[in-house]
Amino acid sequence: MDFDSSQRMTQDVAEAFRHITSLFHQERSEPSQKPIVKVASPTAVSSLHQYALPEAPKPIESVVEEAIKIFSYRLRNDHPRFFGFIPSPAHPLSWLGEMLCSLFNTHGGSWLQSSGPSTIEAGLINFLATKLGLPSETAGGLFVSGGSMANLTGMTMARDRMLGSQEARLKGCIYVSEQTHFSVTKGLKVLGFVDSQIRKVPVNSKFRFDVESLKKTVQNDRAKGLLPFAVVATCGATNTGSIDPLQDIADVAQKEKLWMHVDGAYGASIVLSKSYSHLADGLGRADSISLDAHKWFFQTFGCGIVFVREKKHLLDSFAANAEYVRDAVAAEETPNFWSYGIELTLPARAMKLWFTMRVLGLDTMGALIDHGVTLAERAEAELRKLKDWEIFSPATLAIVVFRYAPRGLSENGLDELNIALSKKLLEENIAGALTTKLHGKAVLRVCAISPQLSLEEMTEVITKIDETAKSMHYVRSI
Ligand SMILES: Cc1ncc(COP(=O)(O)O)c(C=O)c1O
Repeated sequence: MDFDSSQRMTQDVAEAFRHITSLFHQERSEPSQKPIVKVASPTAVSSLHQYALPEAPKPIESVVEEAIKIFSYRLRNDHPRFFGFIPSPAHPLSWLGEMLCSLFNTHGGSWLQSSGPSTIEAGLINFLATKLGLPSETAGGLFVSGGSMANLTGMTMARDRMLGSQEARLKGCIYVSEQTHFSVTKGLKVLGFVDSQIRKVPVNSKFRFDVESLKKTVQNDRAKGLLPFAVVATCGATNTGSIDPLQDIADVAQKEKLWMHVDGAYGASIVLSKSYSHLADGLGRADSISLDAHKWFFQTFGCGIVFVREKKHLLDSFAANAEYVRDAVAAEETPNFWSYGIELTLPARAMKLWFTMRVLGLDTMGALIDHGVTLAERAEAELRKLKDWEIFSPATLAIVVFRYAPRGLSENGLDELNIALSKKLLEENIAGALTTKLHGKAVLRVCAISPQLSLEEMTEVITKIDETAKSMHYVRSI
């Protein structure tokens, strides 16, 4: 390709970019009117197959049109009424930040390649670590792709620090709760641990780690000659938003010499809240913490962070060298982030969060987070006014869990009714309130962190959920 034609390509790309910018306006306008989800039917799948393979070259515009068609089959994670999983109500500034990262395409792994963005990453990590309660002098961390990678990174440090020999690794036991996110267990399996080394400690009636059971299990394991080495607490459990008793768990960890990892992928963002940061009291006693900026820091996907009380543990676990990177060896104040984690080539992930926070400022970030907490409280308050609704887990960190329970139905019948209700709410574009199981029962779950949903709209959503539930039950009972 000669220079002229590549210059033409640059112009065509710039043109298509303008088109994509106008799509951005379309996507952002009237978000509540858009479908929460559109799943490809078998016929649509057959027609989409034609786009999968690259063949003869095509004009950029026509490929942009193809992309629009392909992406139309998706769930809008940022829809104001999508309450399932952990939604991702990404701020438009995050999108812009991501565009900048992509434009400059910086390799964030080494100081030589990324001294500007790495300075920001180190500064932002230090700032957030202090907010989490970790000591500013020793704390460190790095941006990773998400909570699963952050948890895996934390677990790796725990293993390396606490279980020195191969024999110790075979005897090591780690303590999670029944509500711990499955990414933790998955990470432990990746590290070579087997099921019998992972103790699932019961939770109490508030779905929080039962600390007495933790203590007993640790003691029993020690008595058997095993090696308890770590405990994983959660700040913001995915099912219920529950925060484990972090201070009490830290006391046990201190006494029993366990590494304490806190999975705060969802809930650790609360430390930036204006009114609720106290809920994370004790978080700063952890040895390592996960946080997903693509959840409650309003970032587009691929933006997680792992923090550690002592930066050197990251280096101990991950620093490695090869001949061809010798020109990029760096001192502590000029970090090579590739020595801090699993990945070598790293996008400058910190830059998009930095961009959002720098433009919005801390107060606005805090207020956006607070809004989620109040939305879930509003949902709970409205449900409590209505007949035949049961709250299974009250509004906690923007999550409320409930079910429709009209009299006269068996437990199986109630399960079926709530599962059918969740499906109907999605089909009718009323709400993406997916189901989960608590106490073995099928229940609806609302995780309400969208800054684009007002309190009044939440009241309307609950009214419509109630009307839909009553009409379904009425139809079933005639
Ligand atoms: C508490 C918790 N931990 C970890 C994860 C995994 O995070 P990711 O999907 O970013 O890998 C999730 C995801 O929802 C989560 O809610």
